[in-house]
Amino acid sequence: SCRMFVEIFEVGPRDGLQNEPRQIATEDKIALVDLLSTAGFRRIEVTSFVPAKWVPQMADAAQVMAGIARRAGTAYSVLTPNLRGYQAARDAGADEVAIFASASEGFSRANLNATIAESLERLAPVAQAARADGVALRGYVSVVTDCPFDGAVPPQAVAQVVAALRDMGCHEISLGDTIGQGRPETVDAMLSAVLDELPATALAGHFHDTAGRALQNVEASLARGLRVFDAAVGGLGGCPYAPGAKGNVATEALAAHLAALGYRTDLDMAVIARAADMARNLRSA
Ligand code: HMG
Ligand code: MG
Repeated sequence: SCRMFVEIFEVGPRDGLQNEPRQIATEDKIALVDLLSTAGFRRIEVTSFVPAKWVPQMADAAQVMAGIARRAGTAYSVLTPNLRGYQAARDAGADEVAIFASASEGFSRANLNATIAESLERLAPVAQAARADGVALRGYVSVVTDCPFDGAVPPQAVAQVVAALRDMGCHEISLGDTIGQGRPETVDAMLSAVLDELPATALAGHFHDTAGRALQNVEASLARGLRVFDAAVGGLGGCPYAPGAKGNVATEALAAHLAALGYRTDLDMAVIARAADMARNLRSA
């Protein structure tokens, strides 16, 4: 097909499940990842190697990674907040690790127990180790338009953190509207500043759908040239340290919307629908 490809980066098993108050069985998480693996994703974010006291739901990260059936052509990605998390992720055979920072001081304190500068210092050795080991390194910047603690986030603050993560060697940086309060105008203004630091080909959009504007924000990002978007099957999600954060944009809604706009995602929509059902059942069980 000559339609332009857009990658949907599936974050449901991680961003989708991390906020669930009920501890979901490890085997259920594995089953969700295994089903998603048959849908044709290039990358799936499986879990996070973070302290259990910070995110109890992700305490079984190593077991989940050990239990999944890996499909050729799919890379399995995980979050790593520090060197200890990185080492565990590497031991678990993660194909890609993601380091994450905040564009606001308030959210950095709440999510990372550190100032932005301190968090970047902590991430530098993770990036160095990933480069040395040849493990793909992704970066995230949270609260790229609105912070639940500090309010509107200046585009320049986002661009500065993007530049720092770029300098650490991230091959891609995902821009997170953590609490889903972005608007096409604020997303566009943010991207305008970020694109001075990094081309659109090295950026991803990560929109939570709290206010129902995620798809509009995806369109604003497409107009700026972004071609990778994070999404969660069934619209699962929310960040435990971001009051008011609801689900990520739903993979099935995003894929349908992209198709309507004339893009292809190369995903098996029947499998996605089954995975969305499975995800919703995990949540309500
Ligand atoms: P801290 O408490 O300041 O760190 O947390 P610490 O080094 O003092 O460690 C605390 C305890 O955890 C110690 O144990 C460590 O040994 C242990 P204790 O002495 O108390 O028994 N520990 C670990 N255990 C397992 N795995 C590890 C690890 N590291 C230390 N890797 C820290 C600092 C950065 C670790 C913490 O704040 C943290 O992990 N924060 C991340 C919270 C999180 O996962 N949030 C959600 C993901 S981000 C997100 O959802 C946003 C995103 O979706 C994009 C968007 O929407 O914006 C990506
Ligand atoms: Mg998120």
